[in-house]
Amino acid sequence: MVNILCIGAGYVGGPTMAMIAKHCPEHRIIVVDISAKRIAQWNSEKLPIYEPGLFEVVQEVRGRNLFFSTDVAVGIAEADIIFVSINTPTKTYGEGAGRGTDLQYWEQVARAILSNSQKRNVIVVEKSTLPVRAAAAMARILNSEKNGVHFEVISNPEFLAEGTAIKDLTNPDRILIGGRSNQSGQKACDTLADLYAHWVPREKILLTNVWSSELSKLFANAMLAQRISSINSITALCEKTGADISEVSQAIGMDKRIGSHFLEASVGFGGSCFRKDIRHLAYLCEHYDLPEVSQYWDSVVSLNDYQINRFFKNILASQFNTLANKKMAILGFAFKPDTGDTRDTPALPICQKLLAEQASISITDPQALANARLELADIEGDIHYEEDPYKAAEGAHSLLLITHWQEYRELDYQRIFDAMIKPAFVFDGRNFLDHQHLFEIGFNVFPLGKPILSHLQ
Ligand code: UDX
Ligand code: UDX
Repeated sequence: MVNILCIGAGYVGGPTMAMIAKHCPEHRIIVVDISAKRIAQWNSEKLPIYEPGLFEVVQEVRGRNLFFSTDVAVGIAEADIIFVSINTPTKTYGEGAGRGTDLQYWEQVARAILSNSQKRNVIVVEKSTLPVRAAAAMARILNSEKNGVHFEVISNPEFLAEGTAIKDLTNPDRILIGGRSNQSGQKACDTLADLYAHWVPREKILLTNVWSSELSKLFANAMLAQRISSINSITALCEKTGADISEVSQAIGMDKRIGSHFLEASVGFGGSCFRKDIRHLAYLCEHYDLPEVSQYWDSVVSLNDYQINRFFKNILASQFNTLANKKMAILGFAFKPDTGDTRDTPALPICQKLLAEQASISITDPQALANARLELADIEGDIHYEEDPYKAAEGAHSLLLITHWQEYRELDYQRIFDAMIKPAFVFDGRNFLDHQHLFEIGFNVFPLGKPILSHLQ
């Protein structure tokens, strides 16, 4: 039996450890967090994050071989393997502000591990996404004192996406483990690989050097985001030329070399990772004196900001250039469906821009209303939160679809139209709704990268 500890009970740490506990019943896993509230939620019937299928897995293993605790020191003292899955935000101050990674929590965790470890050999697993060479920095801190403990730091980035975390963890495309090439490094990688091999086929477990592993994580997110910015850039051109982005996306996606995933046009990507990781990548390139490479990746983020702004500007222009006192119903605030997560959601800048125009906004979302309230807490304006999408749309001039929750496709749009101010508009930030049907009801429909369906002259 191995004692496994995970520091950080967030979107990554919680689900990942639940899955390891499920498939490795012989091991004991403790997840710790500095937030007592989070730990209390993990120990309750209402988990701190909404993720389809997660509760069932947690219920199966909690109290059996998975435990949630706030006692970081005791957790470290007993652990043979320590996953570090804390958030790694963008630095907001000093050198590299707005671009580099804020490593202060990372270093604090390293020091806590150093002062509390009691086993002879401890494997520290870097789960958080970090700048390349962060594992080496962690190893330097851990090995700064000779207290009889040998620490081996390895990198094992997580590729799960929110909303599909359990599916992704159950059947990952690959497990990436990066370690040093010496005997101790290889042994640590093998130990971790054996853990995953409880349910992941060996051929999907990829062993690399530490820096390849760290860089692959940053680069995977950058590549995914780059595809979205690429398709979003073409929505703007489609709107000028009359081409249809769905047709273009299908046509290029059928080319096996391009592939069909991540070609859905949108109001812009969001989430805790893409913007942050691209900024880190760009900063890293800048640091290594590669300004052209840095600018290339920066442009992926700029295009995303452009797309969000373009969506807003289309709303303003089509509503006769004034939104003052007009009610805008926001369908969806989460950064994607099947999550309550609102980190870097495009809904936030859109709401801010609408409020700056003195519009009244009415936000609905099946899971993200609590987080929406937090995001908008310091922003002044006429803001309403509605559980019921029909109520959110009552008396509205426009519907703005920001998050493509399945249930938004199934709403009774005739009923919604009847309760709205005319002319009524729909701005579909995901090309998710049945545009022809909405047009036939009487809506003026503004998709992305497709011809507008308008009853107005
Ligand atoms: C993950 C990854 O770990 C991060 O690298 C990636 O870039 C974003 O996704 P995530 O699990 O989504 O992070 O973050 P979050 O849900 O914020 O969870 C992190 C947890 O770590 C929080 O609950 C926080 O309280 C905890 N934490 C943070 C600690 O326990 N100790 C610390 O020192 C800092
Ligand atoms: C991402 C990566 O997919 C995952 O591997 C990594 O571990 C964490 O970051 P996540 O942010 O949870 O996962 O969700 P993802 O499905 O990648 O979506 C990110 C954003 O891109 C969302 O706002 C989504 O709506 C948007 N998106 C995605 C598009 O706009 N178009 C697409 O075709 C796909």
